[in-house]
Amino acid sequence: MAEKMAANLDYNVKSSDAVIDTNRKLRVGIIGCGWIAGAHIDCYKLMPDVEIVAGADLIPGKAEAFFKAHGVEGVKTDYASHKEMLDDESLKLDAVSICTYNRQHAEPAIYALKKGVNVMLEKPFTVTLDEAIEVMKAEKESGKVISIGFQPRLDDNMQQIKKIVESGELGKIYYIQTGGGRRRGIPTPFGTTFIENETAGLGALADIGCYSLDLVLNAIGYPKPLTVSGYKSAYFGKDPNYCGYPADKKAEYAAKFGVDDFAAAFVRLEGDIILDFRIAWAMNLDTPGDTIIMGTKGSLRIPSTDCWNGTFYSPMKIYHEVAGLQTVTEVPLIPVSNNPKSDLFYKKIRSFLDAVKYGLPAPVPTSQIIYNQAILDGIARSAELGREVEIEIPEI
Ligand SMILES: NC(=O)c1ccc[n+]([C@@H]2O[C@H](COP(=O)([O-])OP(=O)(O)OC[C@H]3O[C@@H](n4cnc5c(N)ncnc54)[C@H](O)[C@@H]3O)[C@@H](O)[C@H]2O)c1
Repeated sequence: MAEKMAANLDYNVKSSDAVIDTNRKLRVGIIGCGWIAGAHIDCYKLMPDVEIVAGADLIPGKAEAFFKAHGVEGVKTDYASHKEMLDDESLKLDAVSICTYNRQHAEPAIYALKKGVNVMLEKPFTVTLDEAIEVMKAEKESGKVISIGFQPRLDDNMQQIKKIVESGELGKIYYIQTGGGRRRGIPTPFGTTFIENETAGLGALADIGCYSLDLVLNAIGYPKPLTVSGYKSAYFGKDPNYCGYPADKKAEYAAKFGVDDFAAAFVRLEGDIILDFRIAWAMNLDTPGDTIIMGTKGSLRIPSTDCWNGTFYSPMKIYHEVAGLQTVTEVPLIPVSNNPKSDLFYKKIRSFLDAVKYGLPAPVPTSQIIYNQAILDGIARSAELGREVEIEIPEI
């Protein structure tokens, strides 16, 4: 069944389409055995055509403890870094999940691709645009699949946004407002890798901002960004009285905080489209607003969502004219299935493995996410310079 229907996605594949030997299992490794690696391994465990053969973490003993905690035996973990694991030819790896912190996305991804290993890379793509360009060069040279970990776009309701835009119901899109955030939600559940500059590089901007950008850019076909005027701040993260930090770590976490907890931008996109964006890990507000997509025939209001996990709390609405009357049409919410194979993480990993197995395009391709990364990079650069910047992406 898995060979006939690829992860319940939008494409069908047959066993005869396979580009690698399907009589053997796909040999998979995990680089970075922290928080999100747990979601990857839980999915791999559900896949009968996958064998988890190796894991690496910079922290000695962490990979071994990780596989033990997840009840997976026989995994090689005696590697001091991604390099040692990828250099081990005996593993015959087909693919790796790269679940490292943001500053360690580009290097392991490039190294894996150069070794001929397919890559499932967690979001955000990278920290800088230059890093993303280098990853794409390695992808091109290797001919391997690299897919970026944007699972919310696989949600049925999120996909409905794209279907509505593509139906033409909204006419020509000219203005988009997007973003999201939390009132108190700086992520420090397992330490400080999200808030230190050395590990994260960017804060809310990249961590959850990348999702809200993907939500709208994917819907409108990822037009090229042209210019960005951006802003970022860190008033909450640097505050030793911030109530979201553990009581005994407030001073330490505030001192270590080296990224942004709020960002905003005004972005010009190709096709005369304006993107108005704001994102927060912490703010004195419930939400920075709904996502809206304005078009010449209709506009779509997407009620403030948790853009990072694809959750919709109330229906979208289309504001349009029907037979001369100003009309509001409510878009019914598609119920979320409890089937583990409908889980967004499962779909993201399954669709990546199906691309590897059947020679399909990457489900979340770098050719799109490079524009997402260019906006994040542009906001960071513009915020530092205090002025609008142009976005330039070379031919790769
Ligand atoms: N898709 C999602 O829903 C989702 C959710 C959470 C986090 N993430 C992303 O996943 C990434 C990791 O997040 P996390 O919460 O698991 O972080 P984490 O800090 O808990 O784990 C990262 C691990 O990677 C290890 N590591 C770093 N560089 C390495 C290298 N070169 N070789 C081997 N190990 C290395 C670290 O030692 C650490 O144990 C982040 O980029 C984050 O944005 C995605």
